[in-house]
Amino acid sequence: MLNVGIIGLGVGAKHAEAYASHPECRVTALCDLSEGRLAEVAPAHPEATTTRCAQDVLDDSDIHIVSVASYDDAHRDQVVRALGHGKHVFVEKPVCLYEAELRDIRKALAARPDLVLSSNLNLRTCPRFLRLKRLMDQGELGQLFHIEADYLWGRIHKLTEGWRGDMDFYSIIHGAAVHMIDLVLWITGQRPVAVQGLSNRIASQGSKLRANDFAVLLLSFPDGMTAKVTGNGGCMHPHFHRVAAFGTRKSFVHEHTGARLYDSRNPAAAPLEITEDYPGVPHKAELIHGFVDTVLNPAIRPPVGAEDVFASMSVCLSAERAVAEGRPVDIKYI
Ligand SMILES: NC(=O)c1ccc[n+]([C@@H]2O[C@H](COP(=O)([O-])OP(=O)(O)OC[C@H]3O[C@@H](n4cnc5c(N)ncnc54)[C@H](O)[C@@H]3O)[C@@H](O)[C@H]2O)c1
Repeated sequence: MLNVGIIGLGVGAKHAEAYASHPECRVTALCDLSEGRLAEVAPAHPEATTTRCAQDVLDDSDIHIVSVASYDDAHRDQVVRALGHGKHVFVEKPVCLYEAELRDIRKALAARPDLVLSSNLNLRTCPRFLRLKRLMDQGELGQLFHIEADYLWGRIHKLTEGWRGDMDFYSIIHGAAVHMIDLVLWITGQRPVAVQGLSNRIASQGSKLRANDFAVLLLSFPDGMTAKVTGNGGCMHPHFHRVAAFGTRKSFVHEHTGARLYDSRNPAAAPLEITEDYPGVPHKAELIHGFVDTVLNPAIRPPVGAEDVFASMSVCLSAERAVAEGRPVDIKYI
């Protein structure tokens, strides 16, 4: 049995449920800054000790896996400490906030190549996006020349109330667009080489949020393909991940009204309706189960590997720099 500790019990409570439903895991430690939150979550995990101090979990030699689901600005220290103490790590996105932090995590993992690092880039488990991935891999779309991926958050209160608005540095790119960047890298199987972007904070003006709530990024790929990604924190729209992929043979368009595969320019031709579920991942257990299976058997590829985590975060960091400098930048992979 693998003993698991969870730090942060917002989305981390879902992590705990996912581990508890894996036959070879047991949740043995729960950590949150809030006593109230601990009291709410603990009854579902009677074997778990509770603490308000993350160090208790990170330093516990009986714990094999740590899930880091604390606020974004605590991730770097908790991930590095967990790896340093020989624990496998599942960390919420963003894995960290700054380039130096990503380098620290890279170094800590390099020192312990036997450990598994993964992250909750959960759009990869959505059945509709898995269908798009299969279509791409089978060459159904022809050569892809442009892909668009929009994170329509639809939950502006998460930015204007609560911890995101209190942080010295919050990034809508790291916090929201990262999901769509990961999706683009995964679906295309390619890595962009350059990024440019613009950003604003019109939607949340007057609120306590000091950071921008919107960013639009343009990515360029070695073969000339382009991508447009947005992190749209203030949109007047329900929570949604809009994706459109344009190939030389077919176009896949997933929008609020449904998903369709177009193979004709004729307005009278009916597109193929894509029926696979979206979002279709109510319990969010699949990524965590996949991660645990890799811990148990390193020959199994995790759904989100450490290199995927480093790649999407590297693109985010370069994108943040491109926006700040107001010019396109080459992407630095860390
Ligand atoms: N993958 C996803 O789709 C997804 C969805 C939601 C949140 N997240 C990420 O999860 C993390 C948490 O966000 P959330 O929405 O769950 O927030 P939340 O406010 O709902 O919950 C966070 C909890 O963590 C606790 N906490 C924060 N820092 C801590 C620390 N250092 N030690 C112990 N407990 C700590 C807080 O007390 C709080 O109860 C963020 O990094 C966020 O970006 C990812």
